[in-house]
Amino acid sequence: MAEKAFVMIKPNAVKRGLIGEIIKRYEQKGLKVVAMKMIKMKKAQAEELYKVHQGKDFYQPLIEFILSGPVVVMIIEGPRVIEAVRSINGETDPLKAQAGSIRGEFGISVRKNIVHASDSIQSAEQEWKIFFEENEIFEYLCGFENEL
Ligand code: TYD
Repeated sequence: MAEKAFVMIKPNAVKRGLIGEIIKRYEQKGLKVVAMKMIKMKKAQAEELYKVHQGKDFYQPLIEFILSGPVVVMIIEGPRVIEAVRSINGETDPLKAQAGSIRGEFGISVRKNIVHASDSIQSAEQEWKIFFEENEIFEYLCGFENEL
């Protein structure tokens, strides 16, 4: 089965009208969106997603920010998808992120850094299970797969 990444468009990016711009970048790279929805995250889900950061000084403001408006959550598949998505997103600090990456182009604040993506296959599975049921994930041929 293809590798999966959990990806989230954060509330500030939704409010700025960047949903299409962001999804376009994953698609044009050849990655496949296999599940997607807009949600208002529950506090328990935010705490589960960011549990590794519990106790850090930025944890509370991060949770408040993530709950401050709707987010778009998705599961993306593709070869080396974790690396692929993180390279498209750019570094955590948008001011250090490569020009041309999503955070490099659209971000200015570390906390409000536009997008989230899993950092390993293991965390991806833990993360997408917070937001999706198995039957919300679709299998289909995409892009070049139809032309092989
Ligand atoms: P982290 O897992 O280090 O980065 P990434 O999202 O690139 O995997 O941090 C998770 C989120 O926590 C990050 O996207 C934004 C927030 N954060 C802060 O608000 N302040 C900080 O100093 C750091 C390191 C992260």
